[in-house]
Amino acid sequence: MDSAAGDERPKVTAPMVRARKGGPPLIMATAYDYPSARIVDEAGIEIILVGDSVANVVHGHATTIKVGLDTMVLHTSAVARAEPRALIVGDMPWLTYHLSTESTIENAGRLIREGGAEAIKLEGGRKRLRMVKALIETEIPVMGHIGLTPQSVHAMGGYRVQGKLVDDARGLIKDAHALDEAGVFALVLEGIPDLVADIVTKEVSCPTIGIGAGSGTDGQVLVFHDILGLAYGKTPKFVRHFADLHAEAVEGMRSFRQAVENGSFPNDDETYHLSEEVAKALAEDK
Ligand code: KIV
Repeated sequence: MDSAAGDERPKVTAPMVRARKGGPPLIMATAYDYPSARIVDEAGIEIILVGDSVANVVHGHATTIKVGLDTMVLHTSAVARAEPRALIVGDMPWLTYHLSTESTIENAGRLIREGGAEAIKLEGGRKRLRMVKALIETEIPVMGHIGLTPQSVHAMGGYRVQGKLVDDARGLIKDAHALDEAGVFALVLEGIPDLVADIVTKEVSCPTIGIGAGSGTDGQVLVFHDILGLAYGKTPKFVRHFADLHAEAVEGMRSFRQAVENGSFPNDDETYHLSEEVAKALAEDK
């Protein structure tokens, strides 16, 4: 299969993303396989996140904590085969960066060596600082992620906007500073009031990438299936569908069914034929 490798735009790197603070908005979208990576990359989006949201939107699970490292490596490697110009960020699944710095580095190493990720993302602030520092020390670029962190669903008591109370907001700001000082190259802010996101964005030196964090962040991220109208069930209020591919896909499938039913598929051009000679020889066998 051909790839996006012929693209003349420069390959996006973690330091390039880091240097974009205060520049044009950073755009990130998730992708989980070869075709979705091609679509995101060809749209000119600069960062592909192989998110653990794959658990929800591809595998149909209710929470992201259902996916493990093998699944994330598999999806990351399918994305990497598209050879995107976009930076490939592999999401660390739940419990792969909580136990020890050694296992965290080994697990991130699998996303990079086997999966082809060029950076990793993990959820949490000061609680995960030891792991973040160890990864950065090992020269693995780290994207932070604070606020409504879906892997904390049970600890949060559901998917709730974070940082609405003064102490919680102060805690998030402290988390952001700690991650920034540790050297994350970008920071995802998810499901927090816009004012808190604005304070963080103003105070940290790395770019912030928001999802449900208002318009004041240095960039925005959305999930592939949400952007294209391929998500099912209730979506949060920050999601905008920019296309309705579900309806188009059903229409395409219906057309296929109808074409077979009415005999118009396959037509002669879509059919392999024998040479007259071989056809005649077979007919004589009868
Ligand atoms: O897994 C994911 O898709 C994410 C984004 C929502 C930031 O973490």
